[in-house]
Amino acid sequence: METLIIYLSKHGTAQKASRLIQKFLSPDNNVTTINLSHDNVPELSNYDRIIIGTSIYVGKGRRSFAKFCTNEYINLFAHKDLGLFLCGLEEDYQKQQKELESVFSERLLRHAKAKAFVGGEIIISKLNCLERLTVRTILKITTDVSTLDENIIEEFVRKMEK
Ligand SMILES: Cc1cc2nc3c(=O)[nH]c(=O)nc-3n(C[C@H](O)[C@H](O)[C@H](O)COP(=O)(O)O)c2cc1C
Repeated sequence: METLIIYLSKHGTAQKASRLIQKFLSPDNNVTTINLSHDNVPELSNYDRIIIGTSIYVGKGRRSFAKFCTNEYINLFAHKDLGLFLCGLEEDYQKQQKELESVFSERLLRHAKAKAFVGGEIIISKLNCLERLTVRTILKITTDVSTLDENIIEEFVRKMEK
């Protein structure tokens, strides 16, 4: 199975999640991982399974991620086994679902074989001043935290492979 993982990560969590996904995929997967920040998107028709993931900032996905999810790509995803994952620190399940809906289009969510909110992390030393202020005031976070959940990621991979 030719599997492509495409991620966009600002401080490394979506990258970690991508590595965990690769770890949990069965060995018959030939996995290519690309980082949307600096890699070119390869020819999607060469892949059977595509897994896309990013993170959420102040209720929104990043602009370059939205730009990537254009109709051109969405039309191609429609013919693939698709998985979607989102990194974030929201703990309430209903709000996590809302965050998934604000980052991925309805069409992608409907088509996806598996979708998951996999948790997130904050490493204060990696944040710029504005981000520190935002996490302190909005998320009430002042120290490093990680809720990245390997069990959720493993379950997501099992769903993809069903
Ligand atoms: C400035 C800032 C705003 C954030 N806003 C949200 C948010 O609205 N909802 C949420 O669930 N997590 C929020 N987070 C948590 C991030 O999604 C989390 O740190 C994630 O792990 C970042 O992943 P990345 O390093 O791959 O970009 C925010 C984090 C920062 C630094």
